[in-house]
Amino acid sequence: MVSKQASRLSAAAPAIAVAHFRAEADPYHPTGNPGGYINLGTAENRLVWDLLAPKLTGARPLTARDTRYAPLYGSARLRGELASFLGRTMGVPIDSENIVVVAGATAALDIIATTLCDPGEAIVVPAPYYGAFDVDLAGRSECRLIPAPLSASDSFWLTGTALDRTLDQARNDGVVVRAVALTSPSNPVGQVFPEQSLREVLQVAAAHDVDVISDEIYANSVFGPQRFTSMATLAQSALPAERVHLIWGFAKDFGLPGFKAGLLHTTNPDVRGAARELAYFAPLSTDTQAVLADLLADPDWVDAFLAESRRRLGASYAAATAVLDSFSITYAPAQAGFSIWVDLSPWLAESTFDAEWRLWRRMYDSIRVSILPGAAFSCPEPGWFRLCHTTDAGLVQEALTRVGRLLTHPAVGARP
Ligand SMILES: Cc1ncc(COP(=O)(O)O)c(C=O)c1O
Repeated sequence: MVSKQASRLSAAAPAIAVAHFRAEADPYHPTGNPGGYINLGTAENRLVWDLLAPKLTGARPLTARDTRYAPLYGSARLRGELASFLGRTMGVPIDSENIVVVAGATAALDIIATTLCDPGEAIVVPAPYYGAFDVDLAGRSECRLIPAPLSASDSFWLTGTALDRTLDQARNDGVVVRAVALTSPSNPVGQVFPEQSLREVLQVAAAHDVDVISDEIYANSVFGPQRFTSMATLAQSALPAERVHLIWGFAKDFGLPGFKAGLLHTTNPDVRGAARELAYFAPLSTDTQAVLADLLADPDWVDAFLAESRRRLGASYAAATAVLDSFSITYAPAQAGFSIWVDLSPWLAESTFDAEWRLWRRMYDSIRVSILPGAAFSCPEPGWFRLCHTTDAGLVQEALTRVGRLLTHPAVGARP
């Protein structure tokens, strides 16, 4: 017998996580397990372990300090290193006092939503959006997410108009909206927003008197020509800086999702105070904090690592899109992140989310390729899928060739 709230929260496990664990439990191997899944559903960067290994696998004797309680919102040393790192890569001075370190960006999202919203209040999110927002922002806080639909014909480009319209509608419906939340660079689409687009978001937020939550977990995973701009550099010009809250973590830019290390940055003293208290429920282990502080303490290594990671991301994206091109599968152009947002709508039996789900099921069952359907990202139109390319190039080639053959010659798509 479990409580109602435990039942509610356990039923809310994100589709992304469910698909990940199922596919990973039965992984494809050309000889050892040819019938297993190729998992292109999970946004992990598996291309950089060789760069990380020399830093992380050497003998590192624990000290007594590493085994004790650190401040539950992050040790002064890690927050100091993070302030220098984020300041350097995001181009804005960061005060370590404004950083709250927790066990993953997921926990940081949960904390900011719980801090800003009471149950029943709302956060507006441009859609398609990172699917786990449904759980991370709304699960424990019990706020509602209201999608602001972006247009497929414009490759789901972020516009202030879409946000403005949704915020107007929410007000007319009597809903109290506390914030706009977005991913920048965007996940799932992989866009890097120029200053002008971000300014529009801040202006709309100011006009509607709401905060902005900017999830910048892919800030250093940009491989295209558009330079990344952090919301933190623009805050104050359009919206008081205290109303802009950043999320970041080591999962993406450092290829360390298993460390579950993330942070909230806020200059609002009340929000920061509450977030420090809520960090009590999701602190990062003292030992992991020490490992990460050591990593950041070598800025030359960090810069070289990030540069090489970006180069590999670009090469991986180019190789994956070349396979898609060869099957005339179109996609929204990406400049950042680990995924490609592909348009499989021409292959839906009809233009519905039901048909999208059936196509997803066919790929999952008959060719054993795990990618994620647009519905998991609240995509406003059916037929879009997110596939992640940042794993072994041979596996990506194999998976995308299977997808291409299934779509273009369905009879060939029989299970290998
Ligand atoms: C935009 C975004 N935010 C947060 C997360 C979760 O980060 P973490 O693993 O640090 O909780 C992810 C992971 O996919 C993500 O893509």
